[in-house]
Amino acid sequence: MKGHVYRKISCLVTNEGVAAKGGVRPVAEDLGLIAQGAVVHSPKEGILWVGPDKNLPKPFRAKAWKHVNCAGLTAYPGLVDCHTHPVFAGDRALEFELRMQGAKYTEIAAAGGGILTSVKATRLASAATLGKLLAHRVKTAYGFGVRLLEAKSGYGLDMASEIRSLEAIRKANKKYGVELVPTCMAAHAVPPERKENRSAYVTEIKEKILPLVAKKKLAEYVDVFCDAGFFSVEESLDILRAAHDLRLSTRVHGEELGLTGIAQKAAEFGAHSVDHLLKVDDAGIRALARHGTVAVLLPGTALYLREPPAPARKLIDEGAVVALASDFNPGTCPTQNLPFIGTLSAIHLGLTTAEIIAGLTWSAARSLRRESRYGTLLPGATSAPIFARGDHPSALFYALAPGALPDPLSSTW
Ligand code: NIG
Ligand code: FE
Repeated sequence: MKGHVYRKISCLVTNEGVAAKGGVRPVAEDLGLIAQGAVVHSPKEGILWVGPDKNLPKPFRAKAWKHVNCAGLTAYPGLVDCHTHPVFAGDRALEFELRMQGAKYTEIAAAGGGILTSVKATRLASAATLGKLLAHRVKTAYGFGVRLLEAKSGYGLDMASEIRSLEAIRKANKKYGVELVPTCMAAHAVPPERKENRSAYVTEIKEKILPLVAKKKLAEYVDVFCDAGFFSVEESLDILRAAHDLRLSTRVHGEELGLTGIAQKAAEFGAHSVDHLLKVDDAGIRALARHGTVAVLLPGTALYLREPPAPARKLIDEGAVVALASDFNPGTCPTQNLPFIGTLSAIHLGLTTAEIIAGLTWSAARSLRRESRYGTLLPGATSAPIFARGDHPSALFYALAPGALPDPLSSTW
């Protein structure tokens, strides 16, 4: 069998115009919709042909290709979750209860909980346990349509545990139908043993952890949590510079809990993305647009933190490329349901269907510099289409948590 021919797809989203425009201000026409479409996908070569079913070229009609009837389905490029923290042990269900009763995220963190609760559990977990937990999460992401997944370390916060987390990511890469992009986030929080001497931890990150990560080629990106109570703007830029010197690319958690000005500085620095942006100001928005730094919005986190949404409309109108991601983590967004992030983006961020689809696919791939292989259903793209029931582009996310996405290759869908 050479591959699959997905046929008679009720609605097919190619993202042709989204890609042509570089993700800037996507509108409905940019989705490049094809009614009654077909897609040819080979596991080795990726997508070979896309078009109206009636135009399917002869060679793909041959028996060597398995034909799959996709009537009643909408096809999308595989989703891209470009911001996740999937390597952790334990959970934070207790802290969720406390927060819902009024405790503040920052108070819990300052008292040694929050991220540090997960750090304790993660440090105690063996490599095998971390690997199993991660494998389960990658498979879950696959079920939600994700085919490219950014995965951060950051619940180790010491050399051995950060390396162990990144090694788990390396092991899971491409094993479960999902490509993983590894990010070292040793600068997620200051670990308890460094509380009295935080600058020593920043130095350790710059001079020990990142050089070893780079040498072992364990990460493509370095991320920093720049916010009050975590890393200052100066510390964050210092870490980003060290990453850059080691030829690691950069992304930043910024303007989440308060306004620090890091969005503008990170954009000027050349970070590939600035994520969260709940409190970003106009100068930050303009800088992101001007430098082509992807604005990654995480509406699930705003929901869990009961914070007002990020200024998505302003970012898009200003010309910023906006991606949407889960921020899957045990504290501020314990869900991997990326279609649900689409639902939230419509309801809370006020985005259009075209903006949401672009944000969950092409623009997210762009933030990981993988837009030539992910984010479209066009020849050259790596992954097979994903599907939702229905014949309209919003089918993927309009129904709240409708369960697993249909898989026309399985006999039971
Ligand atoms: O993206 N903001 C920083 N990190 C995560 C939260 C991590 C946690 O609470 O465990 C986030 O929201
Ligand atoms: Fe995050």
